[in-house]
Amino acid sequence: MRIDIITCLPRLLESPFNDSIVKRAQEKGMVTIHVHDLRQHTSDAHRTTDDYAFGGGAGMVMMIEPIHRCISALQSERSYDDIIYMSPDGELLTQAMANQLSMKQNLILLCGHYKGVDERVREHLITREISIGDYVLSGGELAAAVVADSVIRLLPGVLSDESSALTDSFQDGLLAPEVYTRPAEYEGWKVPEVLLSGNQAMIENWRYENALKRTQNRRPGLLDAK
Ligand code: ADE
Repeated sequence: MRIDIITCLPRLLESPFNDSIVKRAQEKGMVTIHVHDLRQHTSDAHRTTDDYAFGGGAGMVMMIEPIHRCISALQSERSYDDIIYMSPDGELLTQAMANQLSMKQNLILLCGHYKGVDERVREHLITREISIGDYVLSGGELAAAVVADSVIRLLPGVLSDESSALTDSFQDGLLAPEVYTRPAEYEGWKVPEVLLSGNQAMIENWRYENALKRTQNRRPGLLDAK
């Protein structure tokens, strides 16, 4: 898989991909991530990427030309399955969406800033819009990092068996069950007996019941969707 991220603040994306699972996925060649500085695609000496909104009002708007030039340059090299604009008014990111995106070959993530992008970008240049939640971030970079992370960890071979994505929260429509590790008792606080029993069938059954109870308590809406 290849992920191209277009941003006017590339430094914001330096650290999220340089550690842990996402770093290892790149080292193993399962994904390549390319961050593109929008300023490299401007046509004026000042490298302008934004301008005042037509009609007035506070806040700058990202211009279409540098975005178009950057996307076209990428498309001249390969075709893309989706060109995604990160925006708080996009479709909400879910585990199902991450699963879907993990099956694609080439993705572009476009990060917005200020008041967002000229609407013609959304009308003509992108194929999809994603929000990571009902709150507003300073820009799309952190949201793009969240989408990339949620997708990359699902690529075959990225996670080892022990950390398999199949047992993640949401993967089966339930929250993940409680987990414990040594010591079996700490300051009088005990691990549930069944987990120490060695009876794998009983343990699996307990985990399922625990996940169900947790989901009922914390996110009952997830059960309605099942
Ligand atoms: N840009 C700003 N806020 C965002 C959000 N919640 N999701 C995606 N992109 C954003």
